[in-house]
Amino acid sequence: MSIWSKKPLSILMQEASAEGEHSLKRSLTAMNLTLLGVGAIIGAGIFVLTGTAAAQHAGPAIVISFLVAGAGCAFAGLCYAEFASMIPIAGSAYTYGYATLGELLAWIIGWDLILEYLFAASTVAVGWSGYFVQFLGDIGIVLPASLTNAPFGVEGTHTLVRTGAIVNLPAVLLVLGLTALLVVGIRESARLNNVIVYVKVAIVLLVIGFGAFYVDTANWHPFIPAQLTDATGALIPGKYGWSGIFAGAGVIFFAYIGFDAVSTAAQEAKNPQRDLPIGILASLAICTVLYILMALVMTGMVPFMQLDVAEPVYVALDSAGPQLAWLKYFATLGAIAGLASVVLVMLMGQPRIFYAMSRDGLLPPLFGRVHPKYQTPWLATIVTGVVASVVAGLFPIGLLGQLVSIGTLFAFLIVCAGILVLRYRSPELKRPFRTPFVPFVPLAGMAICGWLMYNLPTDTWWRLGIWMGLGLVIYAFYGRSHSKLGRAGV
Ligand code: ALA
Repeated sequence: MSIWSKKPLSILMQEASAEGEHSLKRSLTAMNLTLLGVGAIIGAGIFVLTGTAAAQHAGPAIVISFLVAGAGCAFAGLCYAEFASMIPIAGSAYTYGYATLGELLAWIIGWDLILEYLFAASTVAVGWSGYFVQFLGDIGIVLPASLTNAPFGVEGTHTLVRTGAIVNLPAVLLVLGLTALLVVGIRESARLNNVIVYVKVAIVLLVIGFGAFYVDTANWHPFIPAQLTDATGALIPGKYGWSGIFAGAGVIFFAYIGFDAVSTAAQEAKNPQRDLPIGILASLAICTVLYILMALVMTGMVPFMQLDVAEPVYVALDSAGPQLAWLKYFATLGAIAGLASVVLVMLMGQPRIFYAMSRDGLLPPLFGRVHPKYQTPWLATIVTGVVASVVAGLFPIGLLGQLVSIGTLFAFLIVCAGILVLRYRSPELKRPFRTPFVPFVPLAGMAICGWLMYNLPTDTWWRLGIWMGLGLVIYAFYGRSHSKLGRAGV
């Protein structure tokens, strides 16, 4: 048995069609899957990060940043769609990696996906807490600051300091509440998600529709502000111009994360081979259009420098005066609902990856237990929820967000590479959905994701390296000796 052993597709397919008490419940339709995608995508990225990215990096050309990051995600999404239709198994990129690149790389992807899902749940829960506390304040309920903030902050780029706060309690309670719902059932969770998604998409459409009447086109000139120079006349990287557009794309990439969460629900989809590609690509397309319109409206309503705040949508609407005052409150509600659904879908995705890893023997069996009544991976869901709530209660949003982005970009890059590998190695496999224009699409996906990773701060690379090192140690001491593939002598 070698660390490069691949899990045969025939075994994967058998697992996918297995029924019984250890299997998950197939109840999700194409519509549910698309709404799951939208639920996971629209969140802190558009409601929080757009403003800072426009103000600090790209100006009105943040619209182009959205196009660049959207293109990278579209290429990766097309690759995910082929894999999801071919290997419709819980586990997403981890499972695809196991089938194409071997056990070690599969483990690396699985471990990396914890950064995407579990940490994203915590990150967005912290963002949600900020909006929620502000909303409570607006209606006269003031919570003590020591119970609504992280006890740890980051000074400079990497020094962890105490802030004096005790815990971010709203973030903890949100994560624990949604975890309880996820234990009880995927269908119940999908139902709540559907309601929330309709609310948040309706609010985004209202902001775009009403905001458009208050756009002053003078705010779009110059559309790409000239790149700034320092005292010696040298260009400052990332400060406007094309360099700023790419830096902005790295920041708002976070806004697109989540469409791939659709693929983690593969074993709960009624018709996964047809519906997973629909869910992945439709949710991505809907959100890309909404994001671009939203960015145009926001940068058109106010001079972009004014958007450098934690609630840029609110600030843009505020500039329209009393006529749009009513919409500001809806926008806050939209953010509260929207961010909660992101947390929900991320908390749903993580246990399903743990479930797949555990069934392969790379994680202890408890992660693979399916609840006899609810048919959910309940223990993995509880472990995920407890860890995510601790992280959300203790750490600030900035530290977590970039780690989520780098982890996700890394997973996307590997999925694109996996499509290339499998096309050349196993061209005969049945592919209900085929990524178009291979090798161009996967190569372009790899190039854009690689480029966005390259532009993230060095500290984030260090953190990724440390996390991966920890994962390799666990694999060496546990996964390698417990792997079912290894024991079967494949
Ligand atoms: N795309 C998700 C968000 O922006 C993670 O909150």
